[in-house]
Order: sequence, then structure tokens, then C-alpha cells
Amino acid sequence: MRAAQFSRYGDPDVLEIVDLPDPHPGPGQVRIAVHAAGINATEPKLRRGELSFGAELPQTTGRDVAGVVDELGDGVTDVAVGDRLFGISDDGAGAAELALLTFRAPIPRSLGFVDAAGLPCALETASRGLDQLGVGDGTVLLVNGATGGIGSTAVQLAAARGARVIGAASAANATYLRLLGAEPVTYGDGMADRVRALAPDAVDVALDVAGSGVLGDLVALAGGAENVVTLADFAGAEEHGVHFSNGFVDGHGFAALATVGELVEAGRFWLPVDRTFPLDRIADAHRVSEQGHVRGRLVLVVR
Ligand SMILES: NC(=O)c1ccc[n+]([C@@H]2O[C@H](COP(=O)([O-])OP(=O)(O)OC[C@H]3O[C@@H](n4cnc5c(N)ncnc54)[C@H](OP(=O)(O)O)[C@@H]3O)[C@@H](O)[C@H]2O)c1
Repeated sequence: MRAAQFSRYGDPDVLEIVDLPDPHPGPGQVRIAVHAAGINATEPKLRRGELSFGAELPQTTGRDVAGVVDELGDGVTDVAVGDRLFGISDDGAGAAELALLTFRAPIPRSLGFVDAAGLPCALETASRGLDQLGVGDGTVLLVNGATGGIGSTAVQLAAARGARVIGAASAANATYLRLLGAEPVTYGDGMADRVRALAPDAVDVALDVAGSGVLGDLVALAGGAENVVTLADFAGAEEHGVHFSNGFVDGHGFAALATVGELVEAGRFWLPVDRTFPLDRIADAHRVSEQGHVRGRLVLVVR
């Protein structure tokens, strides 16, 4: 199969398309013919060598995938060849023609492969963060970094739980955030005052998706470090005593993959695809991701 990989850490040009042996599913796994693969902001960090999930070089890339089941591992009874699934590549090898999945769900009826491919990691991560913060009916939640893949997802899942959501983004994204169900504030100097103006009685909890170095402000706004979770600011978490949410340590929010279909079909959940790229232009997709202003998700079209 054709797959993207890199043999050394570095800028996007280290990515190349290579021929790898076709993978075959082990017990509990299914194989899909990948139609589309999402790019989340973690992929460039792994490619630069700033983050490691324990894989060695040369390293494949990509986690989010959507496609059609073409082979079943032993013991798989809930899925049939030909089913449309989305999920998370077990080997971090989603940017490829074939992928093995343990964590997967049927693609919601009204979504195509490109729309579904952006969802899995965003759903898993956002729902994990919201669960850790105890977000539910009536919670006042601040999301810092509310307009990327995870942020857009967190806003809508929280709104569906009945929370009041304040989302921090650039001014250009104010209308977009309102469409998602959040009250917008702009990030940057004075953000804390703008949040206080919207929520004079304070926010209950805050989710830091952007990792933009504002955990001190979030702790003050939410009344304590225990009311804040960050997904992206490891150093700030240590400095401010905030929980850094890590799926490997904390457990995963995979259940959200199976339940989002109801919200999608009700018109209450939508993760826009900012841009698509063919697989062999994955380096360009990483370049756009690294600029840090993706609205929703970037998606590779594989077939
Ligand atoms: N801990 C975990 O389990 C886990 C799992 C997956 C990913 N992550 C991490 O989560 C982070 C977000 O991932 P993602 O894929 O959702 O990212 P993404 O889609 O690339 O996020 C882009 C968004 O970030 C916003 N942004 C840029 N600068 C900002 C700032 N200073 N303040 C607030 N928002 C800002 C942008 O909004 P504007 O365009 O309006 O500026 C843009 O909409 C990454 O650091 C990723 O590595 C963590």
C-alpha cells in the first residue's frame, strides 16, 4: 500500500509517500480501505520530534481515518466487510491506503468520508476533556482555542450537554463560534477582562485546547486549578498545578464516536473541513496545520 512516512525528524519536506506491505488485522481489529484521513495538530509535533508516542524511525503518520471495511480480524462480529467506518489508526498510520482499527464506529448516515475523517481524535479528546471537567447541564465553560478541530468539537458537545459556552478565538471567528453555539471572546491581551464582562459571576470550568500560555488566567477565571484542564500546555500545567489530559494515562473518550451520529443527524453537530489535499500533498497539509489557524479540520483525500 501507499503510505506517508518520515525517516528523520524535521520540516514538512521529510514526509514522503512510500510503498509498505499491506497490514492485516489481528484479533479484534478491522482493516479499512482508507478513503480520507484527518490531520490533527499533533501530527506535525510528532514529525518534528517534539512529541513521541514511542514509535521509531522511519515513522508512519496519521490517526484519523474513514473508509470501507475490507478485512476482519478474529473475533470481530459487530462489523461486516463493506461497512463504512471511521476511527483511529492503531499504528499511527492513517495517512495510507489501508488502516487497522480497534476504536471505530459506523459513519453517521449523512456524512461522507471526508467529513467523517476529521472527527475521531477531536471527538475522543474533546469528550475526555469535558468529562474530566464534569461539564453538564448549566455548567459555564470557557474553551480557549475554540475554533480548531478539538475546540469546535468541544464547544458543540458541551452545548449539547446544556452548558453555556464561552469560546476564545480570533475576531475573524466570532460569527463561526456563534454558529457552533458559543459566545465569542477574542484571545490576546485583556482576554480575562472580556470573559469577566460576559460572565461576571465567573466561569465554572475552563478547557485549554490551544496551549497558548494562558493557564494562569484560566485558573483565576475558573476559581482554581482543579477547575481547569489543558490538552496542550504541558509546561503551564506543571507551573499552575493544572491537569494535563493525556489519553494514554487518563483513559479515552472513544464512546463519543458511537454517539455523535445522533447529534449529526439532528443537525446539532458539524465539524467543517477547512481544506482537503491529496495524500501525496501531505507536506502542504502539515504546513497549513503549523500556521495554527485551521478552522475545523484538514483532510487528506486518499481515494
Ligand atoms: N492531550 C491530548 O490528548 C491531545 C490529543 C490531540 C491533540 N492535542 C493537542 O491539542 C491541540 C489542539 O489540536 P487541534 O488539532 O484541535 O488544533 P488545530 O485544529 O490546529 O487548532 C487550530 C485553532 O487554534 C486556534 N488558535 C491559534 N492560536 C490561538 C491562541 N493564541 N489562542 C486561542 N486559540 C488559538 C485557531 O483559532 P484562530 O484561527 O481563531 O486563531 C485555530 O482555530 C494541539 O496542541 C494538539 O497537539 C492534545
